[in-house]
Amino acid sequence: MTEHSMENMRSLIDTHQLGFALPRPFYTSPDIYDADLRSVWNQSWIWAGHVSQIPEKGDYFLFDYGPESVIVVRDGSGAVRAHMNICRHRGSRLCIEPSGNVRNFVCPYHAWVFDLGGALRSNRAMGDDFDPARYRLFPVHVTVFQGLIFICAAEDPPSLAAPLNRLAPLSAPFGMENLKRVHRASYPVPTNWKLALENYLECYHCAPSHKDYAKSHTLKDPEQCDIFTPDLQDRMRAAGLPTETIGMTEPSAPEPGAEVYWRRYPLFPGYQTGSNSGDPLAPLLGNLTGYDGGATDLGIGPLNFFLIYADHLVGYRFVPRALQETDIQIEWYVRSDAQEGRDFNLDDLIWLWHVTSLDDERIIRHNQEGVNSHRFVPGPLSAMETSIAGFYDTYFDLIRNDPGVFRG
Ligand code: FES
Ligand SMILES: [Fe+2]
Repeated sequence: MTEHSMENMRSLIDTHQLGFALPRPFYTSPDIYDADLRSVWNQSWIWAGHVSQIPEKGDYFLFDYGPESVIVVRDGSGAVRAHMNICRHRGSRLCIEPSGNVRNFVCPYHAWVFDLGGALRSNRAMGDDFDPARYRLFPVHVTVFQGLIFICAAEDPPSLAAPLNRLAPLSAPFGMENLKRVHRASYPVPTNWKLALENYLECYHCAPSHKDYAKSHTLKDPEQCDIFTPDLQDRMRAAGLPTETIGMTEPSAPEPGAEVYWRRYPLFPGYQTGSNSGDPLAPLLGNLTGYDGGATDLGIGPLNFFLIYADHLVGYRFVPRALQETDIQIEWYVRSDAQEGRDFNLDDLIWLWHVTSLDDERIIRHNQEGVNSHRFVPGPLSAMETSIAGFYDTYFDLIRNDPGVFRG
């Protein structure tokens, strides 16, 4: 990034009016997209998957975002490790298949060989003074929280330890380490990743845009949500669930990028889970003793979102592919011993968040089309969009912390 464009970025952040949407260049400028990947995506924890995807030594999968590709692998000691998928010779991708099982990583170009821990084990004809220790794979940090795998490519990632310690007793009853993924889907949208993420953060659009979701989830109407919350909390206690919440703005976040959010809200009476009929979809998670008719919104860091019902978990991320190309990635999880056909019907399980994501794909696409107009001027956020304002705070903190953006 040139001095000139850094200066532009500085004055652009200054043009953002508190309580309003972001100015147009945040969704249209290649320089800002580049800064987003470097300062936000490469400096934040990203939810990459679940330990059940790589049960055996040598099992791996790739997680790709923007120009980056990360190998997430189970090493010889049973630990989950991650490396940049970049050969240290001349930079070829090491792994091409999106998942598999390997003994070592063999580069498809000139056949350098790296072990599961990232050390260079074999190289051809590099001479006597070649020191393989200097050419390990670039490491990526890993945090496993109750089975969920998070990766961070930063040299010095934001510390999740304190926020996750606070979260642990609230999420423990759901037995997240004991899940299996039964479906995943990717909804490509021709928008900047921030518009897709902002859409997820607010439920101001839920009533007008999500007919099916609005039928069952009280979050679309804060007054209704408040009315049904005391009853939900009684049912939560009966089902063995703590009723505590963790707010986005609480001091749970010691530094930008380590925010945790946890709140369970009521479904409408008659709905035990996020199903079309209101009936249960799958066996109860963890050690829950009953269907409480609630749905938990869980956020870990600025980029990772989960919705937890009594019988399944849905995970979300909004992965940048290009300036105005984003994949809405969704994964559905049930208890690891649940069997399709016997314990759950896959079409019923994924119905709600499939139809809701089709709605979202449409509204976010039209949002970007309007924002692309030179006549677009950011409008004010409503009281139901305060989470977006919180995201902007974290976003600006991360951009400002990038030495490449604000040198000196
Ligand atoms: S680029 Fe990998 S061995 Fe040459
Ligand atoms: Fe939506």
